[in-house]
Amino acid sequence: MPRKVDSQYVWMDGEVVDADNAHVSFFAHCIHYGTAVFEGIRCYDAEGGPAIFRLPEHWERLRRSARGYYMEYPWTDEQLTEASRDLIRRHDFRECYIRPVVLTGEGRMGVRPVDCETNVGIAVWSWGEYLGAGALENGISAKIVDRRKYHPSAFDPTVKASGHYLNSVVATKEAAAGGYDEGILLNPEGRIAEGSGENIFLVNDGRIQTNPPEESLLLGITRDSVLHIADAFGIECEIAPFGVDDLMSADEAFFTGTAAEVTPIAKVNDQPIGSGVRGPVTEKIQSTYLAAVRGRAGDAYLPWLTRVD
Ligand SMILES: Cc1ncc(COP(=O)(O)O)c(C=O)c1O
Repeated sequence: MPRKVDSQYVWMDGEVVDADNAHVSFFAHCIHYGTAVFEGIRCYDAEGGPAIFRLPEHWERLRRSARGYYMEYPWTDEQLTEASRDLIRRHDFRECYIRPVVLTGEGRMGVRPVDCETNVGIAVWSWGEYLGAGALENGISAKIVDRRKYHPSAFDPTVKASGHYLNSVVATKEAAAGGYDEGILLNPEGRIAEGSGENIFLVNDGRIQTNPPEESLLLGITRDSVLHIADAFGIECEIAPFGVDDLMSADEAFFTGTAAEVTPIAKVNDQPIGSGVRGPVTEKIQSTYLAAVRGRAGDAYLPWLTRVD
């Protein structure tokens, strides 16, 4: 099947290989049992040249995720940074998505990984607006899906593991089947957890709110960036659980994620949120975020960038 991404080379275990030759064995443990961890990172066409956004934070989460599944890899963050920069240069990308994966490879068969290799790969490709063209400006429609988010006692939601994403995959399928752009999952207690690949913020009376990790969500790096941006504007932020009614009655709501960036939630279950268009607080935070990732929001945000050249 022809590849749907414009990736030409992949970094695998220290070597750059042609994307057509970037293979994983059928007998790799991760294929059978979901034992891989990964990251989603963006590189932006920043002032002064391409730059990767909050790269050290992504490496830190990758390593923590790996530890969560007893996986270790021999590469330092500096080596992975160099590999990523090299790949971006080889593709001549100004902007792209970066996908590092740490996977449990071949070993003895069986649920318990025994004598399995750990393989590390990095791919890069061009990726525009994750939730569709116009999503950043017009917002998206979301559905609160029937499938619940897993309980934190079953899986640690702050670990970004491939196997965990089956829960999100089902949510996206259910939302798409109803004609919605994205699925929102409730946690087992029936409060809002997060989107299939995004954290959620509410806006009320000029203040913002997002939920804590105990509600069963990934601690997003974009979530953290938005909290910093809000703080710099003097926008008050509460970190507290919220329910369906809170979401439906919010003045504004938005998703945050490396892929989704800051995407307004225009409608949930066909009901407009607030006025049903991108609200003023969302727009302020979104425009600052999109400027910060490109080094155009002032010196305060420059430490978030890792230069490619
Ligand atoms: C389930 C889930 N929640 C939240 C996020 C947002 O995380 P980040 O902002 O670090 O990309 C993601 C994306 O990685 C995700 O997959």
